Amino acid sequence: MNSVSANRFDIIRPDDWHLHLRDGNMLQAVVADSARQFGRAIIMPNLKPAVTTTAAALAYRARIQAALAHSGAGGAAAAFQPLMTLYLTDQTAPDEIRRASDSGLIHGVKLYPAGATTHSDQGVTDLLGHCRATLEAMQKHGMPLLIHGEVTDPSVDLFDREAVFIDRVLGPLRRDFPALKVVLEHLTTAQGVAYVRDADGPVAATITAHHLLYNRNALFQGGLRPHWYCLPVLKRETHRQALLQAATSGNARFFLGTDSAPHLRSAKEQDCGCAGCYTARHAMALYAMAFDSVGELARLEGFASLHGPAFYGLPVNTGRLVLERHADQVPERLFDGAREIIPLAAGECLPWRVLDTSSEP
Ligand code: NCD
Ligand code: ZN
Repeated sequence: MNSVSANRFDIIRPDDWHLHLRDGNMLQAVVADSARQFGRAIIMPNLKPAVTTTAAALAYRARIQAALAHSGAGGAAAAFQPLMTLYLTDQTAPDEIRRASDSGLIHGVKLYPAGATTHSDQGVTDLLGHCRATLEAMQKHGMPLLIHGEVTDPSVDLFDREAVFIDRVLGPLRRDFPALKVVLEHLTTAQGVAYVRDADGPVAATITAHHLLYNRNALFQGGLRPHWYCLPVLKRETHRQALLQAATSGNARFFLGTDSAPHLRSAKEQDCGCAGCYTARHAMALYAMAFDSVGELARLEGFASLHGPAFYGLPVNTGRLVLERHADQVPERLFDGAREIIPLAAGECLPWRVLDTSSEP
């Protein structure tokens, strides 16, 4: 990080290692928000239907690039690279992993336990029962398994599902496949932090900005607030503090993944609202706010720009991103009419902003 002054600094252009871009109109609306800040992003495959094959992932990649070209995002944003993933199902064949690996454009395979979250109904019902040969192929090809780490057992309390997943699923998985690269996505608990920190072998975790900044009170402040509802759900303050400590510790196993997950306002504000927070527009400002809250802005570059590429075996970005201490209000709503989204922290004033570099060559 180059400290120009206490109020402005720049870092190597960051990457987002967990992002939902959706498809069609929604993709067209949101893609520039990520491209303006990040060099690359790991693109989640939970479309309808899910992205289960290499061919589908490459076709989705082309649609993202076309949307970017039509988004008006110029400068560094135009160079944004989508890093594709496959959606693991009970039927994913080992051969599909070889094809994905050979493509050079697919960087992970996503495990959604069936029923765990948005569009997870095509997900895995019994990982070690149905997917052994496929996991073997992933281990052999060095293809990371990106995990939504929550059990779906309805008898397990919603707030305990990550910790129980670690005991019931992750432990046995890593015992049987010790060389498999594993990323625990959107980590939310102190138990998760301890597991990732202390595990042997290639294990890492992404952490969202909202889990670093807010605890579960945010869901209920002044009433029921659907735009703060995501999965895994926000946890109690002790967990937030453990996450913040991990993210700002300099430990290379923890890196940035926004889990920005846009849903139409109408899909969130209803009697059974969707899970997912839209954070892409202000992502780096939110992360800067979190790191600044514990006086660790100097550690932001490692978390946002260095640790992820090291784990995925990719080069670090060459560009830079400038952050400036400057009040910036999150809009009350984004996009128009049929595409309306309420961003996380709508209407709030953030103390940091990204300097717009979109007009630079
Ligand atoms: C995500 C989505 O909407 O696709 N929702 C969320 O709450 N994070 C899915 C996911 O990552 O769990
Ligand atoms: Zn997600």
